[in-house]
Amino acid sequence: MIRVLTYGTYDLFHYGHLRILKRARELGDYLVVGVSTDEFNALKNKQCVYPYTERAQIVEALKCVDLVIPEENWEQKTDDVRRNNIDIFVMGDDWEGKFDFLRDYCKVVYLPRTPDISSTDIKSQIKQGK
Ligand code: CTP
Repeated sequence: MIRVLTYGTYDLFHYGHLRILKRARELGDYLVVGVSTDEFNALKNKQCVYPYTERAQIVEALKCVDLVIPEENWEQKTDDVRRNNIDIFVMGDDWEGKFDFLRDYCKVVYLPRTPDISSTDIKSQIKQGK
């Protein structure tokens, strides 16, 4: 069984989120998703519309997702890879190169981002009444 791991905030869940999760799952047989907690987002100066429990439940309900774990800090990834017996770590290519240190433990794949959509854009479009 090939086990895949990816992370994200997944606020205002959108098509780009769905596409990366589906593609990540297609690389293996079991997909673990780390969802950023509200406390971790605060550290990153990222403010979400939906709280962690709601974002985590939305991601957990997807057919392509097998397990959701909380992402609480930058340092947990190596432990998560080991603890969950991960074979492939996946992120969007906006993170290209940032997690290459995990290559000591598993395969690292950066998938192309879906163009023209992000939670930040959706928030600003709604603010502008578009
Ligand atoms: N992602 C993607 N395509 C998009 C938006 C996000 O493939 N158009 C991927 C990211 O590369 C990441 C995952 O989805 O691997 C979660 O990203 P997240 O930061 O939660 O989504 P964004 O929409 O980019 O949020 P923000 O605007 O707050 O950065």
